[in-house]
Formats: sequence, structure tokens, C-alpha cells
Amino acid sequence: MNAGLILAGGKGERLTGYDKPKQFIEVGGKPVISYCLQTFEQCADIDLICVVIAEEYRGNLGSFLFADPGKSRQHSIYNGLLFLKQYAPDRVVVHDAARPLVTGADISDVITSSLACDGATPALPVTDTTYQSVDGKTITTTLNRDELFAGQTPECYDFKKYLGIHERLSDEELSAVRGSSEIAVGFGMKIALAKGDECNFKITTNADLERFRTIVEGR
Ligand code: CTP
Ligand code: MG
Repeated sequence: MNAGLILAGGKGERLTGYDKPKQFIEVGGKPVISYCLQTFEQCADIDLICVVIAEEYRGNLGSFLFADPGKSRQHSIYNGLLFLKQYAPDRVVVHDAARPLVTGADISDVITSSLACDGATPALPVTDTTYQSVDGKTITTTLNRDELFAGQTPECYDFKKYLGIHERLSDEELSAVRGSSEIAVGFGMKIALAKGDECNFKITTNADLERFRTIVEGR
């Protein structure tokens, strides 16, 4: 049994000029979050869906299970996992509500990729030359692009193993996490790289939101 875990507990601080977080801004007559919720609902590989979301935004979304947001993205994931524990899913598929253009194929692909491992994450090969700069002003070194991949969601994990890792971490360790697979890999879970999807971009900045608006309105 596969549980979908939709993350909508963030404040969207890198996007400015709106009175609500990016996932609740209306595009094409409905909030950004509704796009991925519909895709998850229609995906035959997903058996139940939990949305991590503040209470004030739960009305009108439909009949989903809900969990409370945490102070960091990883804390929000942990809250969702703790809520889902009662349903004992085999796998959890974690997705950013800020990625409205996820497809059913993206979800099914990451689940399939995870089957031979403990989990899988979609990632795109990095195409630009990539520099490391320790001070943000001058180049420290040029990284080997052939070994670099940009991670996306939906990410799929063995539910018991992934929850178990969160239960062993301190509050500070959870706050320091930079991506959902970081602790999975750190605790020995084997995480496959699944095929990324260029269309499944995350709305982070105002330019991303306008890109999404143009796609929806041009349909
Ligand atoms: N998220 C969450 N709980 C948090 C932080 C983030 O559920 N405490 C969710 C966001 O709602 C988003 C996804 O994680 O759907 C990806 O995170 P990000 O793009 O960083 O969203 P925000 O943290 O909301 O944005 P920002 O970092 O610009 O403030
Ligand atoms: Mg954030």
C-alpha cells in the first residue's frame, strides 16, 4: 500500500507580493496545490493521501487526511509520517505542493524505481557548468557536472525504514536536513535515482509562478 504525503506547510518566503503562501495562490481558477492533489487522487498507484497543511487552509480542498506543518520541511515530513503510521503503508511518496505539474507517470516511475532499493528520488542531470564558491564572491572550484543531479519530488521511501530514521534524530538534526533523501542515505538506505521531469519544476520565485501561469493559461 502506497501513501501520498503532500507538503503544503511552508510559508513561501522567496515569492513576494501575495497575502498567502505560493501553494494557495489561484492560477487558472484554482489554488496551485489543487493541481498535484488531483494528479495524486487519480493515480492508481496511490492508495491514500495525507496533506501537511495549516488548519486555516484545509476548507474547500476535498476529503483528505491532514497533518500539522512543522517548523522545517523535514519536520513537516515527520509529522506526516507519524500521522500515516496508523495506516501502516509499505511506501510513502513525498511531494511538494509547490510542484503542480507532476504527472501520474512521474509518481508511478519513482515507485517502480524504488522497488529494487529502499527508495527512489527523481533527479535531472545538471546541464549548466557548476561552481562551488565558499564566500559567494569568487570561485573556489568547478564541480564535475557528470556526477551532479538536481533532485525533485515525488520521492518514494520504504515507510518503516524512513520513519525509523526520523525517530532516531534530534530536533536540531532534523532542522539541519537539506533534502528528504539526505538522512535516508546517511542512515544506509539505498536510494535509486529515478528519471526527473523538466516540466515538474518547483514554484520557488515569482518568475516560476509566472512560468506556471503562462503554461496553464496557454493550454
Ligand atoms: N514545506 C512544508 N513545511 C515547511 C517548509 C516547507 O510543508 N516547514 C513545503 C512547502 O509548502 C513546499 C515544499 O515543502 O510545498 C518545498 O519547500 P519550499 O519550496 O522551500 O517552500 P517554502 O519553504 O514554503 O518556501 P521558501 O523556502 O521560499 O520560504
Ligand atoms: Mg523552504
